[in-house]
Amino acid sequence: MRSLTIKNLKKKFKNVNAVDGINIEINEGKMIGIIGRSGAGKSTLLRMINRLTDPSEGSIEFDDTKVTSLKGRALRKWRSECAMIFQQFNLIERLDVLTNVLIGSLGRNYSILNLFGIFSKEEKISALRNLERFDLSEKALQRASTLSGGQQQRVAIARALMQNPKILLADEPISSLDPKNAKRVMDDMRKINREDGITVICNLHSLEVAKRYCDRLIGLADGKVVFDGSPDELTLEISKELYDLDND
Ligand SMILES: Nc1ncnc2c1ncn2[C@@H]1O[C@H](COP(=O)(O)OP(=O)(O)O)[C@@H](O)[C@H]1O
Ligand SMILES: [Mg+2]
Repeated sequence: MRSLTIKNLKKKFKNVNAVDGINIEINEGKMIGIIGRSGAGKSTLLRMINRLTDPSEGSIEFDDTKVTSLKGRALRKWRSECAMIFQQFNLIERLDVLTNVLIGSLGRNYSILNLFGIFSKEEKISALRNLERFDLSEKALQRASTLSGGQQQRVAIARALMQNPKILLADEPISSLDPKNAKRVMDDMRKINREDGITVICNLHSLEVAKRYCDRLIGLADGKVVFDGSPDELTLEISKELYDLDND
C-alpha cells in the first residue's frame, strides 16, 4: 500500500514556528481530519504537502516520490496529483460551471486562450460525468456565480477530480457554509474517498464534523501533533486543549 510519509517537517516564518517537527504517516485511501484552533499550523501543513509552500526543514514522501525534492515538470505533476479545495471555492465566477470543471483537466498551466474550444469531447463527457455524480449536471451551463456556496464547493470537488488526484487536500472546505450545505460537501468528499479510494486530508474547524466523517484525526497545537488517533480515542480533555473549549 502506498503512503504519505512526513518526517520532522518544520516551517518557520520569521519568529513563528508555524509547523514545528511533524512526523506522520498516512495510508492511501484514508479520510483524515486535521483539527486544532486557528493558528495551529493546519493550512501551512496542507500547503507544504502540495508544495505551495516549501518547508524550512524535514521531508515529505509519497510512495517512492520524494515530494520535497521535486522540481520543474515533476513538481507540476505532483501539484496536480494532490488537488486542493479551499474555503472560498475559488471558481471563476463569470464562467459557466462546465468550463470551471474542465479547467481542472488543464492543471495550473492554462492560459485564457486555452478556454476557446480546445477541450476534447472526452474531456467534456468526463466533466459532465463528474457533475452528474454530485447531482449538478443540470447546472452545467449556468454561470458559477449563480450557484449557492455549497453547490460551488461541490463544483470545486468535481473540478479537482478532473486532475485524477491521488490525494484531495481540503482547507476548511465547509467554514463558510450552513449546516445543510456543509453536510452535502462532506458527504461528497466521503463519496470520492470511499468510491474512488482517494486519500482525503481535510482541515476542519468543527470537531463534531471531523469526528463524524474521518477515520483518523490529527490534532495540532502550536505546530505540533498533540493527538493522533481515531475519533473515539479523542477524550474531552484533549478536545478542550485543542479548541480552548473552556473559553468559548
Ligand atoms: N505567510 C506567512 N507569513 C508569516 N506567518 C505566517 C504565514 N502563514 C502562516 N503564518 C503563521 O503561522 C502560524 C500557523 O498558521 P496557519 O497554518 O495558517 O494556521 P491554521 O491554518 O491552523 O489557522 C500562525 O501563527 C500564522 O500567523
Ligand atoms: Mg488555516
